[in-house]
Amino acid sequence: MLGLKLPTDPRWVNIVEKNIEDILTDHAYCEQKATSTAISLIVSFPEYTDLVQEMVALVKEEISHFKMVHDKILENGWILGRDRKDDYVLQLITFFPKGGSRTTQLVHRLLYAALIEARSCERFRLLSEELEDKELAEFYRKLMVSEANHYTMFLGFARQYGDRKEVDQKWNDLLDYEAEIMKNLSKSETIHG
Ligand SMILES: [Fe+2]
Ligand SMILES: [Fe+2]
Repeated sequence: MLGLKLPTDPRWVNIVEKNIEDILTDHAYCEQKATSTAISLIVSFPEYTDLVQEMVALVKEEISHFKMVHDKILENGWILGRDRKDDYVLQLITFFPKGGSRTTQLVHRLLYAALIEARSCERFRLLSEELEDKELAEFYRKLMVSEANHYTMFLGFARQYGDRKEVDQKWNDLLDYEAEIMKNLSKSETIHG
């Protein structure tokens, strides 16, 4: 349903389980970046009224996810650590050539956002199914549902604002590229690592 072409190696969960503090830290910053992306889309594309309205709602939801993860960190007696770069996202966002019309740039940013949401959703699903800690598993199950809605929303906007056929082709090409990136990942205790 997410369209991803390469599923995560389930052994990734074993790596994560050995370091819950690291995964929660990385996860908190994923939620912060999702919030920042929504704000940035508002600033960059203010004339797309439907998008602006949805991004306002998304900012609130993603920052509330950030708080949920932050609360989990505090519950465990930890303090949020510093952010680290997300190699997966850095590689992903080199796929489309820079430039083009405003609509083209918007479509590219929406497709990147859709894919990051889809992969996050897949990772959360795996955590919700495989984690030994049932309370944490339930925490990830709830978040999985939210991220699936975000994936659908971003892809829907790309199709609404761009040429449908062209957008579908770009989405398919991006999925192929993402599967190549994933071949070298699933080896570290980060949401996309
Ligand atoms: Fe989120
Ligand atoms: Fe999200």
